[in-house]
Amino acid sequence: MKIFKDEEKLSPEYVPPNLPHRENELNMLKTFFSSVIDGTPSISTRVIVSGSVGTGKSALVKLFGQKAVSEASKKGVDLKFLYVNCRISKTTFSVLRKLIEQLKARLPERGLSNEEFIHKLLDHLEYKGSYAILALDEVEMLLREEGSEPFYLFSRVGEERLKIPRISTIFIFRNPEILDTLDASTRSSLLGNIIHLKEYDYSQLYDIVKYRASLAFRPDVLMEDAIQLIADIASERGDARYALDILWRAGKYAEAENASQVAPEHVRKAAASVYPTIRREHLEFLEQHSKLILLALAQALDIEKSAYVTSSILNDYYKMVCEEYDVEPRSYTSFWEALQRLDDLGIIKIRVVSEGSKGRKSYISLPGIPTSILKKELIPLLPSKQAKQ
Ligand SMILES: Nc1ncnc2c1ncn2[C@@H]1O[C@H](COP(=O)(O)OP(=O)(O)OP(=O)(O)O)[C@@H](O)[C@H]1O
Ligand SMILES: [Mg+2]
Repeated sequence: MKIFKDEEKLSPEYVPPNLPHRENELNMLKTFFSSVIDGTPSISTRVIVSGSVGTGKSALVKLFGQKAVSEASKKGVDLKFLYVNCRISKTTFSVLRKLIEQLKARLPERGLSNEEFIHKLLDHLEYKGSYAILALDEVEMLLREEGSEPFYLFSRVGEERLKIPRISTIFIFRNPEILDTLDASTRSSLLGNIIHLKEYDYSQLYDIVKYRASLAFRPDVLMEDAIQLIADIASERGDARYALDILWRAGKYAEAENASQVAPEHVRKAAASVYPTIRREHLEFLEQHSKLILLALAQALDIEKSAYVTSSILNDYYKMVCEEYDVEPRSYTSFWEALQRLDDLGIIKIRVVSEGSKGRKSYISLPGIPTSILKKELIPLLPSKQAKQ
């Protein structure tokens, strides 16, 4: 039996035309950016959108971007919505390149400092009479890599030009506490408009699942009990992505069994195979050394038969894995930085314990996924060992 009418509507990239239970936040964004949409901004607007995993941050901002552009165009305002995910573009330079690409601006790609780059961008917008809303998603990644420089660049340079502000920004964070690591003046320039997305509760997840199923599934194939069960399972984390992953997989199980409906049993099967802390798109975009570190962690936890390994033991395993794959291991400092990024992504957990006179030790664990599954996901993403010879 055919279960899906349009499976794509459940893919992580798809932005639905409505976001139930985020209408207020969408309106807040519209209000904050109303002068930009009208083409009459007098100051550059900056907004922070925060909230934990799967609370709809990316979807909300992308949907807002689409709406803002079309509303502006009705008013004859040329507004660009530029979206960059800093998990993929981790440096200021690569963010800038993405922006240039999206603007389709012809600019020299090399030989400019980041600050000159921003000025060129602003020149381009001024020349065209356009405005841009710049959304930087998963900013903690950029912040870890570059400190406050990008924030200065994206928020202050425009102001210093004393012309009409051309760029307004939305910064998307999971945990805005990371802002505490910035210097006071950058921090104060960012603070102000914060939209915090609370985790979804049972009834909100129920509505979201029902709505997304109506886009993706054929009418009446999803049983009422199945919707309730998904909402129940996902409400523990308040995570809509987790709910939709289970929904999609439950549909796949039903289809594979040739069932005519998606039933609670399909949901139970699906829930047993979805690991909310690991997202395939996260693993794919990790740099090779982070993948090797994760593989080393999976091996170490297996071999040591324990829940935790210390960072120094993990480093030994990492060196062995590097040898297997015939790559040079990174220095301990970069190894440690990679661990922190993996912790930021929620894939691993680092617990630092002070052990009296012996100093501090870091214990690394893998809370959300069995080692066997992690290995199975990682190995195809790594170069085959023979090919390395
Ligand atoms: N209110 C909603 N209505 C319908 N779908 C939603 C809603 N909120 C989130 N979703 C869907 O749930 C999934 C996760 O949302 P999104 O990617 O925006 O979360 P996020 O807060 O950016 O998470 P992360 O911190 O992991 O990046 C997406 O597929 C999104 O379309
Ligand atoms: Mg997101």
